[in-house]
Amino acid sequence: MSQITNEVKNQIKKRRTFAIISHPDAGKTTLTEKFLLYGGAINQAGSVKGKATAKHAVSDWMEIEKERGISVTSSVLQFNYDGYCINILDTPGHQDFSEDTYRTLMAADSAVMVIDASKGVEAQTRKLFKVCTMRHIPIFTFINKMDREAMDTFELLDDIENELGIATCPINWPIGSGKEFRGVYDRASKKVEIFSDTKKGTTQGEVKKVDINDPEISWLITDDQRVQLEEEIELQDGAGAEFDQELVSKGELSPVFFGSALTNFGVETFLQHFLQMTTSPLPRTSDRGPIDPMEEGDFSAFVFKIQANMNKAHRDRIAFMRICSGEFEAGMDVYHMQGGKKVRLSQPQQMMASERKMISKAYGGDIIGVFDPGIFSIGDTLTTAQDKFTYEGIPTFAPEHFARVRQVDTMKRKQFIKGINQIAQEGAIQIFQEYNTGMEEIIVGVVGVLQFDVLKYRLENEYNVEIRLENLPYEYIRWIENEEIDLDKLTGTSDMKKVKDLKGRPLLLFVNEWSIRMTVDRNEGLKLTEFGRS
Ligand code: G4P
Repeated sequence: MSQITNEVKNQIKKRRTFAIISHPDAGKTTLTEKFLLYGGAINQAGSVKGKATAKHAVSDWMEIEKERGISVTSSVLQFNYDGYCINILDTPGHQDFSEDTYRTLMAADSAVMVIDASKGVEAQTRKLFKVCTMRHIPIFTFINKMDREAMDTFELLDDIENELGIATCPINWPIGSGKEFRGVYDRASKKVEIFSDTKKGTTQGEVKKVDINDPEISWLITDDQRVQLEEEIELQDGAGAEFDQELVSKGELSPVFFGSALTNFGVETFLQHFLQMTTSPLPRTSDRGPIDPMEEGDFSAFVFKIQANMNKAHRDRIAFMRICSGEFEAGMDVYHMQGGKKVRLSQPQQMMASERKMISKAYGGDIIGVFDPGIFSIGDTLTTAQDKFTYEGIPTFAPEHFARVRQVDTMKRKQFIKGINQIAQEGAIQIFQEYNTGMEEIIVGVVGVLQFDVLKYRLENEYNVEIRLENLPYEYIRWIENEEIDLDKLTGTSDMKKVKDLKGRPLLLFVNEWSIRMTVDRNEGLKLTEFGRS
């Protein structure tokens, strides 16, 4: 291990790398945009990624991908604020929800969960939240759209606690909602923060901070609002969990903030608190033990996403990696552990606000995309350390949609196998085979249904193979943890299907949760898991 320099250490210390998770339409894009506004990365809100990217129909998506290359699904935005260097990982929602969304969370050190104040916890948030808890990363909650009629504040907090099973600690408390939303009360400083007009959210706006006991308060909020606030705060102080940084760091307590991303109310105060409560990059697990970015001087990174460039002529790919330690320099030679040889990392790129740019340097905590001549796989480790190590792999997430794939022209078997394998290697789809037969029957599993269209489109356009997909009724997949179990003897329900993955590992497909329970009951000692290891 080579000694870390102070320069690199200082760079890593100021890094904050987080993902924003939410159900579609809760306001993730708007909040991201406002962060950039406060970070000075854009001058006027409304200029970041076109809204269209989030809301397009399937056919548009293909066009957008083609026109814009990788930019649609690979949003990693970097900006500076108050001495911090912030990396925001976007997790695509809507139809383009896929395994990538889950994997992105592997690269983050914390997560910000955006919840619509009128809706509470929604389906997609629940799914993404599960992955965050698996990693024990800090989760911060921003309850958005307070400028609209909101659910009762206590109800919202209960909803998060009951639905997601995490304790909450409101850092501030909303004063009114809808047209009456005036601002928030900061529980630690006991000050009321009143927001002023932000020209429909396009400018930063002023925040006035007044002590709750200051007579001036009566000019800012109504008497009714003050009485309600005092009552609610008293109730919360008496019954709610206290702030505990250690529990926050372990992902067991979620600090909660209220605001309106659209009008910029509560955005900056959230950002300031959040940056203090979250940490710089932490040690990551490897086969050499934890690698601490504050000590390890050598460069190391792992690949968490591979994006095929839609440029047909080149068929090149971009591998996105999370730098875990040390300093990256463009064109540097690193050791690719899984490939067992040295590679040169070329054409490194990063996203700045809405643009992709070439970079020359990056540090632990940063995300970079490098040119991949087809040698990287999800989860691969790269390092310059003499004393080599491999980072813990990335889990394989359970697909929820399955289809049998057949190529229309049987003469094109070779291209078909090659194409489908490459696309699986990029992690866009998972492929399985019938348990007892060979490659003749291929079953594809995806996390988001859009991936089926992407598969069909790409096989046709890049490999010249037309396919037919036949949907299968399965919705649940389980890996078998105790592989010594004899699959031939395993008895499940009649609608259960035995398959194997590319590495020959056995898996079970189920139509419903009831069948999973029945199968576990019927086979003593059988241990099933929702996440596999790549
Ligand atoms: P997403 O990325 O989570 O999918 O959500 P996005 O930010 O795109 O926001 C979804 C819709 O909610 C947008 O409205 C957006 O303007 C609105 N929105 C976001 N934050 C707030 C907020 O704090 N208050 C209110 N009232 N609305 C908010 P849209 O009508 O779908 O788009 P647009 O035409 O307004 O841009």
